[in-house]
Amino acid sequence: MAKKRLVSGMRTTGSLHLGHLEGTLKNWVALQDTYDCFFFAAVWHAFTDRLKIDNLPSLIREMIVDWLSVGIDPEKAVIFRQSAMHEHAELATILANCTPLGWLERCPTFKDAVRDDEARSSVTLGKLMYPVLMTADIAVYNAAAVPVGKDQLPHLELSREIIRRFNSAFGDILTEPEAVLSQVPLLIGIDKRKMSKSYNNGIDLRESPEGLKNKIQQMITDPQRVRRNDPGDPEVCTVYAYHKIYTPDRLAEIAEGCRTAGLGCRDCKLMLFERLNAMLEPIRSRRAEIEARHGYIEEVLEAGEKRAHLVASEVMQQIRQVMGFLL
Ligand code: TRP
Ligand code: SF4
Repeated sequence: MAKKRLVSGMRTTGSLHLGHLEGTLKNWVALQDTYDCFFFAAVWHAFTDRLKIDNLPSLIREMIVDWLSVGIDPEKAVIFRQSAMHEHAELATILANCTPLGWLERCPTFKDAVRDDEARSSVTLGKLMYPVLMTADIAVYNAAAVPVGKDQLPHLELSREIIRRFNSAFGDILTEPEAVLSQVPLLIGIDKRKMSKSYNNGIDLRESPEGLKNKIQQMITDPQRVRRNDPGDPEVCTVYAYHKIYTPDRLAEIAEGCRTAGLGCRDCKLMLFERLNAMLEPIRSRRAEIEARHGYIEEVLEAGEKRAHLVASEVMQQIRQVMGFLL
């Protein structure tokens, strides 16, 4: 039986952190076997935040290297750049006309972006159109499924409505994608805020053992636990939040040790270091192998873009046909 087609993208923000791994990439790796996966670097979407991006070629390269090093497999998934696919742009131009302005203005991410007057004066059409381009990204492959986090659900719902509008005008041409929701743990940054590049509070996938040790050292523990003998409250501690994900087998023991002051923060952090380091080690060595292969990333993208064009050009041709572009 043919696998269902699944599409997902990730904005090019450079090297990736544990939040990307837990929130997105592990899920992508798992989906590769069940779906016909199309994964792309959302290069154009990255520009909705700023017009100039320094070192974009290395940001793209680093992101793809990170994908491959965690197990995204170019033999299974189609890996490509949005910016190499003119079909996405063509379809976005068309779908803009199936999208009432109000839908876009009501989008939570857009509302956030125009919260105050200063923000309003710098927000662009690109930002407003974000969900339209995203719809095109999906529809141009007639994808049946899109893995999304809860925060992206409103965007996907919007995509479905845009696609319904198109279909009600031209017939059942485009596929309405279903959300594939995954149970992802929420990973906080070392300062307890949301893990984000802009807060510089993340743990990178390419962190060295020393760098990792350093980041764990900086993690905020229970501030009430000043001396070694003070009992602690694991529920307010960042280190413990990580243990919940990475040391589930010894969680009760850690919580108990913390509450009774039987376990010191140093040892608790050391335990986390060992877990995380053991997880990152194979990723590091796979990355080293990938980086040693000269021209490999170019090859992967070229092959992926060829396969993506095969699908996208066929869908676009059908759209051009029903809309009457062809003489
Ligand atoms: N919105 C996604 C992000 O913020 C990127 C993205 C762009 C995407 N187009 C998509 C995701 C299509 C899924 C499907 O990272
Ligand atoms: Fe946090 Fe562990 Fe220290 Fe408790 S013992 S406060 S869980 S680091």
